[in-house]
Amino acid sequence: MTRGKFITLEGMDGAGKSTHLTWIPDFLAARGVTVRLTREPGGTALGERLRELMLDKNQKLHAETEALLMFAARREHLDKVILPALDAGNWVVCDRFTDATFAYQSGGSGLPWERIVALESWVQGSLQPDLTLYFDVPSEIGKARTQAAREPDRFEQEGRSFFDRVRESYFRRAREMPHRMQIIDGTVALDHVKQSVENKIISNCFK
Ligand code: TMP
Repeated sequence: MTRGKFITLEGMDGAGKSTHLTWIPDFLAARGVTVRLTREPGGTALGERLRELMLDKNQKLHAETEALLMFAARREHLDKVILPALDAGNWVVCDRFTDATFAYQSGGSGLPWERIVALESWVQGSLQPDLTLYFDVPSEIGKARTQAAREPDRFEQEGRSFFDRVRESYFRRAREMPHRMQIIDGTVALDHVKQSVENKIISNCFK
């Protein structure tokens, strides 16, 4: 049985990843792949409950609590969903994964980078996505888009400097792992973004 591919989507709120998640599973299915679409935080019964707590505007969580809860949810997600699906030869498309913890809890909230590195290695060993599509937009564009679209959750309420640090941290991850992390310019027309995503998926996962 050939192990499936693990694809993650990342980007600050408002970068457009949700729009592209609507067609990527069909695009892969059309190439004969069985796709398991999932998300973080979430993806399991426990993870979805933790998600509700973590996104609740009325919660005030310490950044370390937040990081530990993200990794607790992730451990369950890996055990119950991601690893079994990959082992069964299915491909997993995950809306956010560990890069988001580096970006938000380290970059945004200021936890030392090395602490996230330690948690990452504890919880997932050497497992990394085969491909990460990072949708990049400047923080002011992300913020304007989320404000226009919905009532902001706890993270979306953060200010511009928080999101500038989130973006910087995604770039740092991309510099550290350039083979898997592909930067997609999320400011250009939707059709162009889609074309670029298709090209990255084909060249990284089908060749
Ligand atoms: P979503 O709106 O893309 O579903 O993501 C939910 C929020 O959770 C988003 O604002 C980013 C945040 N988040 C973290 O802060 N750390 C993490 O590790 C993950 C996976 C998400």
